Amino acid sequence: MIEISLRGDKSLSHRYLLFSSLINSSCRIKNLSLGQDVLSTKKLLEKLGMEFTEVGGVIQTNNAYAYTREPVIPLNCDNSGTTIRLLLSILASKEISATLIGDESLSKRPMGRVINPLSSLGANIFSKNDLTPLRVFPAKIQKKEHTLELEIASAQVKSALLFFAYLNRLHLKLRGKILSRDHTEILFQELGADIKIHDEEIEIFPSNELKSFDVHVPGDISSAMFLIVLRLLSPGKTLKLKDISLNPTRSHALNILKQMNAKISIENKSLQLGESVGDILIDYSPDLKNVTMIKAEEVPFIVDELPILSLAFSAASGEIKIEEVGELKVKESNRLDAILSLFNSSLEGNNLIIQGGQKTYSTLKSHDHRILMTSKVIEKIKGNVSFTLEEQNIMAVSYPEFQDHLKLFE
Ligand code: S3P
Repeated sequence: MIEISLRGDKSLSHRYLLFSSLINSSCRIKNLSLGQDVLSTKKLLEKLGMEFTEVGGVIQTNNAYAYTREPVIPLNCDNSGTTIRLLLSILASKEISATLIGDESLSKRPMGRVINPLSSLGANIFSKNDLTPLRVFPAKIQKKEHTLELEIASAQVKSALLFFAYLNRLHLKLRGKILSRDHTEILFQELGADIKIHDEEIEIFPSNELKSFDVHVPGDISSAMFLIVLRLLSPGKTLKLKDISLNPTRSHALNILKQMNAKISIENKSLQLGESVGDILIDYSPDLKNVTMIKAEEVPFIVDELPILSLAFSAASGEIKIEEVGELKVKESNRLDAILSLFNSSLEGNNLIIQGGQKTYSTLKSHDHRILMTSKVIEKIKGNVSFTLEEQNIMAVSYPEFQDHLKLFE
């Protein structure tokens, strides 16, 4: 048996850090992601006055001076969409002004999706063509009650709006495309905010102070997926991944793979701060068979896993159609283009069709961590994988331990 414990989930790590900056008593965070994206959030919170002390792998937080100093230079969010979009909304709720920038990839990603709805609530944000740099000034709240219809199923947009509503004591109803990863609303609820979560509506009311928390961040399911697909497609010992986030809005890829005859089982399920956690056991599965269709409403629940899942789809028998994959174009790179060039696949409008039974594969040199790791899994299955220093840095955006973990599959 190969047993691996993964570092904390990236989305959860961002959120635990950001929430701790809003909580007046100290919080404790164990197993924080060591990925560069999360370090970007931590570094910027420190620049904004947050204090983090680490003893024996436990981070203790102190927000006494958070958001009290105006940053004199632009805050660089590097490659991280979650950092820029969530921090933007928190800064937009504070009495300071700031400028947010990012790396080359982040500078091309659409920010209008957060700027526009936040502005409709009273945020004061300026940008040219809805791209970075984003200049943010103190909000001017005119109205305390709002109902917004979300047009894009995006957890970053939804989270930004919930942070803004909480910090400005708004009564906000979110409707429309609210079904995306739900960590932010779960955490608001767990920490005592007045929030009601339904399938068709999320409603947040003016709330009291949030409680402090002590958490062990569950292992990253999106990182886990690279190892899971590797084991499914290559013979070897059973793989056991311990303490992985199994939040249903994040682990839907496991359901799809199980429907495809993948030998996957779950053990030791528990709930930690409202989030499902458990161990995943995976065995080589040579008889994968594609499901015929993945519906549009399922896509937000597998959006980060689609590149590596597409490898499993291409290796399985049969054809699969994945509806409405347009969001893949605006990730760290155009991931749809990458999938189309890696796998026997085509587009029908906004639907992606992948042909199973692919026997030969090429790989891609990409600056996008998830596309690069998908290519590395392909190389590993072919039998020969190597990493340059530049590639290691790219993968460190989300999964710095990836190369070491691949070595366990000898
Ligand atoms: C994330 C949400 C997703 C995902 C990203 C992380 C988050 O983006 O792709 O890697 O932590 O909220 P969208 O919400 O834009 O779909």
